[in-house]
Amino acid sequence: MTGNPAPATATQAPHAQPDATAVPLLEARHVSKYFGSVVALRDVSLEVRAGEVTCVLGDNGAGKSSLIKTLSGVFPPDEGEILVDGNPIRFSGPREARAHGIATVFQDLATVPMMSVWRNFFLGQEPTRSFGPIRFLDQGRAKDVMRVEMAKMGINVSDPNQYVGTLSGGERQAVAISRAVYFGARVLILDEPTSALGVRQSGIVLRYVIQARDMGRGVILITHNPHHAYPVGDRFVLLKLGRVMGTYTKDQIDVGELTQMMAGGEELAQLSHELQRLDPDQPGLQRVARELAEDAKAHQ
Ligand SMILES: Nc1ncnc2c1ncn2[C@@H]1O[C@H](COP(=O)(O)OP(=O)(O)OP(=O)(O)O)[C@@H](O)[C@H]1O
Ligand SMILES: [Mg+2]
Repeated sequence: MTGNPAPATATQAPHAQPDATAVPLLEARHVSKYFGSVVALRDVSLEVRAGEVTCVLGDNGAGKSSLIKTLSGVFPPDEGEILVDGNPIRFSGPREARAHGIATVFQDLATVPMMSVWRNFFLGQEPTRSFGPIRFLDQGRAKDVMRVEMAKMGINVSDPNQYVGTLSGGERQAVAISRAVYFGARVLILDEPTSALGVRQSGIVLRYVIQARDMGRGVILITHNPHHAYPVGDRFVLLKLGRVMGTYTKDQIDVGELTQMMAGGEELAQLSHELQRLDPDQPGLQRVARELAEDAKAHQ
């Protein structure tokens, strides 16, 4: 399998602006979610529109996964509501969310490693052929469809029988994303698709995000990394300790401001101070502390 990442500028190419007055495909309104005394989400609102990428950013424990789980039917919100095409809905589970065209690609559970690429692509929805009264799996067609769909993502599959477990992280994400798009997802939710990937593979995944957007899908991209979010995002939702710290469109914020809000200059300065105190004779630690201090200064 080979991927051909688009040049970096491709991610910044202008795209047709979606109709801002159109009803969002998916929406969370004033959603709260509690786990015992833990507030995972408090009064969170977010919109996903056709042809737009909504990025959800936040640190560990900010509530990102809890938010996408309420949006994808894993659990209902304790307060607030989820709307599909402007209509309030209470999903019975992820299957019902999928039936409404909402597909979530979880980073680790997206594919089955000990299964071939083409089987992973279809996962039980393989095309069949009839021979008299007998129906059987149309392997040839399945492999062709998979090849064509993956090629649309810029990936050439040389051996469809290859185990997915032998692919790179980025290529595995590609199988999961192209499957979701092929099976009609109108809303694609990607939970940290780039967190375990290198630069090149992250570039490939981000390009799929743009392709899905350009096909008119609504995309939610969850990430820690403002440098991944900014080039592809149209809307940015910042979560902290379960609360929305801000929602911005791209023209309201630049990548520096986004990074600053994510990291928090003050917190970096404090962390740097603590590291310096820990062990003044440890050069490695001191170097990290200096870098943090520089970052903190850059954020002021
Ligand atoms: N099933 C659960 N039971 C109890 N607490 C939970 C559960 N799921 C999440 N939480 C808590 O809710 C808060 C938000 O967690 P969540 O997983 O949504 O954060 P996140 O932003 O996805 O973090 P990360 O970047 O580490 O994936 C955390 O304090 C977490 O411990
Ligand atoms: Mg998470």
